[in-house]
Amino acid sequence: MDKEELTVIRKFEHIEHCLKKQVEAHVSTQFENIHFVHTSLPEIDKEEIDLSIEFLGRRFDYPIMIAGMTGGTKGSQIAGKINKTLAKAAQELNIPMGVGSQRAMIRKPETWESYYVRDVAPDIFLVGNLGAPQFAENMPNRYGVEEALKAVETIQADALAIHMNPLQESVQPEGDTQYKGVINALAELKSELSYPIIAKETGAGVSMEVAIKLESIGIDAIDVGGLGGTSWSGVEYYRAKDERSRNLALKFWDWGIPTALSVAEVRYATTLPIIATGGIRDGIAIAKALTLGANLAGVALPLLKPAVNGDVEGVIKILQRYIDELKNAMFLVGARNVEELKKVPLVVTGFAREWLEQRIDLWEFLKDRRL
Ligand SMILES: Cc1cc2nc3c(=O)[nH]c(=O)nc-3n(C[C@H](O)[C@H](O)[C@H](O)COP(=O)(O)O)c2cc1C
Repeated sequence: MDKEELTVIRKFEHIEHCLKKQVEAHVSTQFENIHFVHTSLPEIDKEEIDLSIEFLGRRFDYPIMIAGMTGGTKGSQIAGKINKTLAKAAQELNIPMGVGSQRAMIRKPETWESYYVRDVAPDIFLVGNLGAPQFAENMPNRYGVEEALKAVETIQADALAIHMNPLQESVQPEGDTQYKGVINALAELKSELSYPIIAKETGAGVSMEVAIKLESIGIDAIDVGGLGGTSWSGVEYYRAKDERSRNLALKFWDWGIPTALSVAEVRYATTLPIIATGGIRDGIAIAKALTLGANLAGVALPLLKPAVNGDVEGVIKILQRYIDELKNAMFLVGARNVEELKKVPLVVTGFAREWLEQRIDLWEFLKDRRL
């Protein structure tokens, strides 16, 4: 079996484990330590609240994105069904969506249909997906602009996400642990590719140091993919075939930068658009992420179950709940729109405060917040 066939099998195993096992971090996103200050006189009508936002030149009805999960099987098999179901929901809500890693498609072009959603979602902002290690200096047959273009254009995507997943690769026996030269490769890619590039973590968060490097090479946006939701070390724990691998995956299950803190770090250090993904499980967390400086919030795992059943309404129902909660939170802090939400005061307590005091000028970050 070649490496690309293994990629397809691995993708199936990931979906299986994500559906049937407890794969989330045992530690939190830290949104519970970020507090709004309740407003008794919001001085707005709840009905007038506008949730629309602009991101990478496009307008969306809600500040929510369906994060990339899958692809890589032929025709209408499981991955295709998941992507098309998610895409129909994204089309109905006018929100952006990503597909999963297109590595399988690069080597096995016949799997393209499992990523293709334009037939059901002609208007959505669609994000392709390739892995950072594939661009590394020492990667045999390393990717370049040709593969990036193929990923975007085959599925008529609007942007390309490059996923950074050193945690997952490092605990996977067959993992791609070459990461040398990725930043130079991304700089080169950025200068040659006319599509926006989103640098995307997958559950361990982006630090301000990495964000500054990404901003310096002209990356268009960062998806912080923080700790507190799906743990890829957790998923690999279930796939591990021997005790040594199992132990390593277990030890690193909760490794990373919690989502709320990663958003704060990246916003403090850069002006890049931010997607807050990782453990987003309600609309209050979305509201907090936006106030910390994210432009939108991404959701993956909760949508997998309805998507695998082809249940478009089920996907919309979850997202609608988040939207209702977000709108309610905005009402209670008196924010008429997302721009106003970004200005409201926040109180940071506990572990989040300890972390941020050591990493950024927290008081500078929090001061002068008022509507
Ligand atoms: C089943 C599944 C498959 C995923 N596959 C990919 C992938 O191929 N590429 C990628 O960049 N992220 C992938 N992710 C990561 C998500 O995009 C997201 O960053 C992460 O799951 C954290 O969000 P969550 O806590 O809402 O699940 C996947 C997530 C899930 C649940």
